Parts: sequence; C-alpha cells; structure tokens
Amino acid sequence: MPSGGTGQSPRATGGKEQYMAAAEQTREVTMEKITSLAKRRGFVFQSSEIYGGQSGAWDYGPLGIELKNRIQRFWWKEMTQLHDDIVGLDAAILMHPRTWEASGHVENFTDPLVDCKKCKQRFRADQIDQDKLARKECPECSGELTETRKFNLMFKSNIGAVDDGSGLIYLRPETAQGIYVNYKNIVQSNRMKIPFGIAQVGKAFRNEIVTKNFIFRTCEFEQMEMQYFVKPGDDEKFFDYWREQRWAYFQKLGVRMDKLRWHRHGPDELAHYAKDAYDIEYEFPMGFRELEGVHNRTDFDLKRHQEYSGKDLQYIDQDNGNERYIPFIIETSAGLTRQLLMMLCDAYEEEKVADKGNDDDWRTVMKFHPELAPITVAVMPLMKKDGLAELAQEIRSELKHDYATDYDQSGAIGRRYRRQDEAGTPYCVTIDYDSKENGTVTVRDRDTMEQERVHKDQLSSYIRDKIKNYKRR
Ligand code: GAP
Repeated sequence: MPSGGTGQSPRATGGKEQYMAAAEQTREVTMEKITSLAKRRGFVFQSSEIYGGQSGAWDYGPLGIELKNRIQRFWWKEMTQLHDDIVGLDAAILMHPRTWEASGHVENFTDPLVDCKKCKQRFRADQIDQDKLARKECPECSGELTETRKFNLMFKSNIGAVDDGSGLIYLRPETAQGIYVNYKNIVQSNRMKIPFGIAQVGKAFRNEIVTKNFIFRTCEFEQMEMQYFVKPGDDEKFFDYWREQRWAYFQKLGVRMDKLRWHRHGPDELAHYAKDAYDIEYEFPMGFRELEGVHNRTDFDLKRHQEYSGKDLQYIDQDNGNERYIPFIIETSAGLTRQLLMMLCDAYEEEKVADKGNDDDWRTVMKFHPELAPITVAVMPLMKKDGLAELAQEIRSELKHDYATDYDQSGAIGRRYRRQDEAGTPYCVTIDYDSKENGTVTVRDRDTMEQERVHKDQLSSYIRDKIKNYKRR
C-alpha cells in the first residue's frame, strides 16, 4: 500500500440513503427545547443553580465556552484581521464615574417602570397593555399600579475602603465608552489616520427587569463593539458601508439568511446619542428580535467627553493642513451572548431518521458550521477491546494538534453518534477491525449521516477539505 493512503478514493457506505425519505420531516423549535439541550449538553447553566439560581446571570459550560470563544474569534478576525484600518482594545470595566455623566447614561439610560401595589410585580410600562396602564390596572392580578417612574439600568457599587458615597462606581452598561476615552491614546500611539476603527469585546452589565427568554436579555452579558471614526460629512457613507459589512458577516457565519431582517429605528426608538440606527433582527422562536445594531452616533460622545474632561479631543488632520475636528462615530454593536443564543436556535434541528414508532425515530442535531462547532472531530473505537481503543487514542492524539477533539468509547455506536449530533460535532471518526488491518477509518458526516472510509494518514487533510467546502444540509 502506498504511504499516505489506501490507493482508493474514499467510498460512501450506509447512512443517508436509508434515512433520507423519512428525514424530510422536522419538529418545531421552541425556547424550552433550546434551554433544555443547552443544560443537558453543557452549553449553558443557570448561575448559582444550587442556591435556586440568580436571575439575569448564566454560566457557560464546556461546550458553551468553546462556542462563545469561536464566535468571538470569528468576529475579531472579521473586524481586525480583515479590516486593515481597525485595531483592538481591552479597556477596564470600571471607569471614572464622570464617564457616565458625559455619555448621558446617568441621565438617560432608563426604563419606564411601574409596580403593582397588590402582587408586588414590576413591569416595564412600555411592554404592557397601554389601556390597562392608563387605568393603572396590573396585567397579572388587576391590582393597582403605581405611577410610571424612570429606573436607571446601571449597576452601582462602591470603590475604596470608605462606604460614604464618595467611592461611587458603575459597572459599565456598554463597552463603547472605553473606546471613546482611549481614542486619542490610540491615534497617538498607533499613528491611526481617519477613517479608522477600534474593536473591543467585553462584559457589560444592565439591571434588566425583564429577563425571560433564556440568555436573550441578561443583567451580565458580553458585547462585541466596533467604533469607526470618520470625518464629519462622511458619516452617512460609512454608515451604509458598515450596514453592508455587518450583513455580509452573517452570510460568512453560515446562518440562515432568511431568518434575518433589518429594522430601522423610528424617532421614538433612537437612543439619546443616535442620529440614525438600524438593527439586524433574527427570527428567534419567540419572533423577530434585535441581534445587533449599527448606529450613527455623530460627534455626540467625543464632544461630551471633551466638555466633561476638559481635554482637547479634536483630531488633527496632518495630511490636510492640520485641519481640526471632532470625528463622527459609526458604531457596530453586537451582543456576543445573544449571538450565541442565535447560533443555538439556528443550528437546532430535529429530524425523523427512522420509522419504528418510538422516540429513537428522531435525532436532535445541532448543525453548527464546522468552524464554529465546539468539537470538530469525535474519535471512537467500535469496541474497547482488541487494541481498538489504543489505536483510537493514537489517532486522536494526532488530530488534536489540528482540531478540537473528543473521545468516546462508551455505549452503542448509534448512541454515541446521537450524543455527538446533539453537541453539533460535524465529524465522527470510528476505528474498527479493518482499521487494524489496513489503517482505514470511517468518517461519519453529521448532516448527511453518510460514512466514508479514509486512510488515517489522510484524515487531517480530508477533514480540512470538508470544512472548507462545507454547505449546510
Ligand atoms: N453601544 C451601543 C449599545 O450598547 P444596545 O442596542 O443597547 O447598544 C447592543 O446593545 C447589543 O448588545 C444588542 O443588539 C444586543 O445584542 C446586546 N445586548 C444589549 N443588552 C443586552 C442584554 N441585557 N442582554 C444580552 N445582550 C444585550
């Protein structure tokens, strides 16, 4: 046998044909199913569950952190590596409290809230029946509602040893401000010329009152934001450019584009800093909801920071006779944890794969793009005995330099495939008695369930090609 292969092209066996007729049927996707799978497979757990849970906070388990890291890396590569004029930053969560006065968050970052005097529930006034609100009638128990009042969403804490209010500090409600206060540092240290951008990923905190729908709206979450600094007058051109770029990003991410749409903010929806804003919305199981936003923030933020700090934040255009101006800012603001929820919903499928009349007829499969799947390859010996487990471990050891791998030797092979389907593992490599004889293994494709025999020496490049040419089925 020539080194590096069997001398034959890989051949297809079993899998798809026997299942295809039945696989046309699918079941409805609900948030309960997503939440249950996320917990069962170690994507996301409720925070402090053993104490009854902490609302608005979630923990990312072994598969969840892998998926989150991959989404983050994908976004970071897209924004920094593929855009020559964007650099990165990692600013502190704790910022000088004047930051939030300048940004307008102390004054304007509020939700209108009402409380029920009878059942003590709290509601967002803009999210309940407006007739009931006018009558001050609780939507849950018909008790009497309080007057609507403004409730600031920023978490406050105290820094320093003395707790007399002089150490007031906020947990940042957006990552953007860390970029604005560093903009001059970056212009000077990295000789950036307008137009240019600064990208950042990090935690943000909001005291959200309504936190239903799993990880959609939480009190602690992560954002992936990019602020693009432009000359006044160029803002509308770059606003359109960044809308196109962000749409193209989701095409590259491999999500179902028919589930995305644009929503332009009406005058009553615009944030206090925005001249124009569009959301990209995704059709979650509970309907179309905001996924991320593209905002024209004008020169609002830098002007305010200049005013509140007393520092000159003008850009000096050395290529144009030292012209001075406060740049306009186009912001692309995405939620990392919200994108993860979108990926879970988008990947989730239940397929009918047999017709025996029991639950085994169905498989739950997470069809992540292989670049984003938490595990890329699962290696499994058909049997533990006769040296198959040792050979499987050897093959896994080689693959793990190139891919995120898993090893599974327990239970029937069909059950093991189902477990990997639920984790979204695109490729399962099975080692059988032929593998000992001629060095070939089977590679099972998650989406088609087809199996091909490949020589173990070709395995890594075979998987690389499959990933490169991946199309969801
Ligand atoms: N810097 C602008 C800004 O923060 P935003 O529309 O308030 O704008 C941007 O937030 C993105 O952050 C949203 O599109 C969403 O993906 C995410 N996000 C906002 N609040 C969130 C929350 N409470 N939980 C999870 N993600 C949230």
